[in-house]
Formats: sequence, structure tokens, C-alpha cells
Amino acid sequence: MEYQEGLAFARYADKNDSLVGFRDKFYLPVQKSGEPYIYMCGNSLGLQPKSTKSYLEQELIDWKNLGVEGHLHAKHPWMPYHEFLTEKMARLVGALPKEVVVMNTLSVNLHLMMVSFYRPTEKRHKILIESDAFPSDKYAVESQIKFHGFDPEKSLIELAPRDGEELLRAEDIQKVIEEEGDQIALIMIGNTNYYTGQFFDMKKIAEWGHAKGCVVGFDCAHGAGNCLLNLHDSGVDFAVWCTYKYINSGPGSLGGVFIHQRHLDDKELPRFSGWWGHDKETRFKMRDDFNPIPTAEGWQLSNPPILSMAAIMASLDIFDEAGIHNLRAKAIKLTGYMEYLLDQLDNEDIKIITPRDPVQRGSQLSIQVKNADKRLFELITEDGVIADWREPDVIRVAPVALYNSFEDVYNFVEILSKNLSKMN
Ligand SMILES: Cc1ncc(COP(=O)(O)O)c(C=O)c1O
Repeated sequence: MEYQEGLAFARYADKNDSLVGFRDKFYLPVQKSGEPYIYMCGNSLGLQPKSTKSYLEQELIDWKNLGVEGHLHAKHPWMPYHEFLTEKMARLVGALPKEVVVMNTLSVNLHLMMVSFYRPTEKRHKILIESDAFPSDKYAVESQIKFHGFDPEKSLIELAPRDGEELLRAEDIQKVIEEEGDQIALIMIGNTNYYTGQFFDMKKIAEWGHAKGCVVGFDCAHGAGNCLLNLHDSGVDFAVWCTYKYINSGPGSLGGVFIHQRHLDDKELPRFSGWWGHDKETRFKMRDDFNPIPTAEGWQLSNPPILSMAAIMASLDIFDEAGIHNLRAKAIKLTGYMEYLLDQLDNEDIKIITPRDPVQRGSQLSIQVKNADKRLFELITEDGVIADWREPDVIRVAPVALYNSFEDVYNFVEILSKNLSKMN
């Protein structure tokens, strides 16, 4: 797309956007003036689809009218409710349906995956993560290392960018895996990185890791519903993600799990078990020894929380209608347009630290602010932008293909520009 400056171009791009109608399927938060906010925060909490209410109401009505009978006789019976999400979620993350399940929340699922896939030995006990991994991931891997009687000081390798650089270089990741791979039990990287927005090549990392005998897992919180993840073809052993960011399912909603099919039949894999992971035929006989379902469902613990799942269903139906490939194509244009306009500002007080190559990023741009001056963020917030500030010095903005317009991007950069001029 050939970008141009000026509002006319933004309006032209919106007019020619085949997905433009999807914006109207969401509630945009409204300012006191009655104007909608410029919402650039779908990487943190996605907006509410207008349809979510009716999906929730259906379950409330069935609960009201049927009580416990709803497990079998609700319009969407609750007992298998999670199964109604599986195919749609699998399409979104590029997996086989049997490799995917929606359950629990992200950090919980990460622990459950590490129970199965982090099995340290005296020789191979290390975990490789990024130095700026999301704090919960870091706490989770450190606590797993300690749980197995090892010392994070010796067993945690943190991948840091080179001095003076913000991003990890692929060749540096490869080098660490080649040099230390024999001692690495698990590679667990955030994809896309929550701070920089850097998207890693999962297939390559999985190949490098597997060649050295490591297990490879990813936290896809910032990738799911945003990038084309191709989890099955990438060959990673497992992945976890949440659904409240780009998947718009509401605050604190459930997470998704991917387990590659090569592990699904392995009943010897240690796992923490619960009745919902047990064979469906005999689950209600209540007497049998644990016999895991030979799909990702075999990792479930509890019966599904229907109200959160109904919100996920509402959102996944929108993704199915729009198509993740179409959304990704639009996201590349929207984010590229924002990058173009920011570059036109040519202002030394800000710097985009997200990769310039669209293949290495999703929708998010991370704008580093000179001298970590948070005033800029506060000023744009006062002017009607919802973005977020991440310590130490970044404003994260994510134009989301489902509901952000080119005009939103234009207005955001105008507001940023106006406030940059107040900074010195
Ligand atoms: C990259 C990443 N990992 C993990 C988490 C933690 O998610 P949860 O609170 O659902 O466990 C988040 C939350 O924002 C995140 O962004």
C-alpha cells in the first residue's frame, strides 16, 4: 500500500477496506464529550463485541429455565460446551482441532504445560527465556525450576538484546541454543514480545531447539488473534495464550492451550489431572482410574465455565466471519500506515523499537519516549487516546484490524504530534 499524508488518504483507505463494517460490531468506549476514544489498546484488553450480551443471555436463560438439566439440554449443552470452541480456536491459531483446548487462564496453563514438558535432569535442567519476558512467565519458570530442586541462578538463561539494541537477533538466539542446548530442558519464549512487539520465528526456534533435544513452548498471549501463528506446522511442543486481548472475550477470561499431536497419545507424560481430562465414556461412572482423553482435552481439570466460554464463542464467530488471513492482511496495512505517519513526524523524542519488518511484528508498535518522559503518555490520554505505558519508557499502541480504522490511526498520530510539540 502506498501511504500518503493527510486525512483524505485515511478516509480513502477506510472506504476501500473490505473489513470496515466489523468496527460496528464492537462497543467503542465513549468520552465525556460523547466522542469515542481512539482505542489503541486491544493488545491489552480487546473491546466488547455487541453480540456478546446475547450469547451470555442465552446461557443465563437456559440456567434459569433448566437448572442442572442445562448440562445436557441447554441450546448449547454445557457438558461439551468447550468443544464448540475448539474448531474455531484451532483455525485462529493454525492447529488441528485435537491439538487445542480452551481452559483455565494463561499462567495456570503455563504451569500445567511445564508439569508435562519441563522435566529437568542433572544434565539438562535449564530454561531459556527472554530477559524482558512478561513477569508472570518469569515467575512461573523460576518457580518451576525451584519446585524441581534447582536454582534459577544456574538454571535460568535470559536472552538479552546486544548492548545498545532493543530487539533480540535471531542469530543470537540460535547461538545460545547451539552452545547451551545440551543443558536446556525447555525453551519458553513470549511470542509476540509484550514490550517490544517483536514476533519470533517459532518454526526456526523449534527446529534449533529440537536439534539439541530441547522442548520448545511459546506464550502466544500477544500473538493469538493478531498474527498467523501456524502452531501445528511450526512444530512447537506446546503453546498457551489468553483470549482477553486480541480475542475480545472480556477481562480475565479463559486461556487457550496447544499441544502438538505427537504428544497427545503419550499417557506416560506426567500431568496434573482432573476429571474433565478423563475419558468421556467413563467420566460419570466415577470409579475408573484416570484415563486421559487422547487430545489436548486430556489436560483439562475442571468442567467448563460457561459464561466466559459464551463470550469467547461470540468473539470467535466474528473471527470466523472476518477470516484471520483477511484480518492479518489489514493489520499489516494499518500498522504500516501508523509507522509511516510516525516516521513523517521525524521527531527525536520518540523512536519505534518494534521491528520494521512486518513479518517480525503483529499489530503493536512500541514507541520509546526520550528520557522516559511519561508526560507524553498522560497528555495523549487527556486528549482521548487509550493506549498504555509500559515501564521503563514505552507507549504501546495497537491498531486492531477488527475495529480500528485508518482514520483512528491518523487521529492518533495528530494528537501525538500536537503533544510532542509541548514537550520541550
Ligand atoms: C505475555 C503475557 N504472558 C502472561 C500474561 C498473564 O496472563 P494471565 O493473567 O491471564 O495469567 C500476560 C497478561 O497480560 C501477558 O501479556
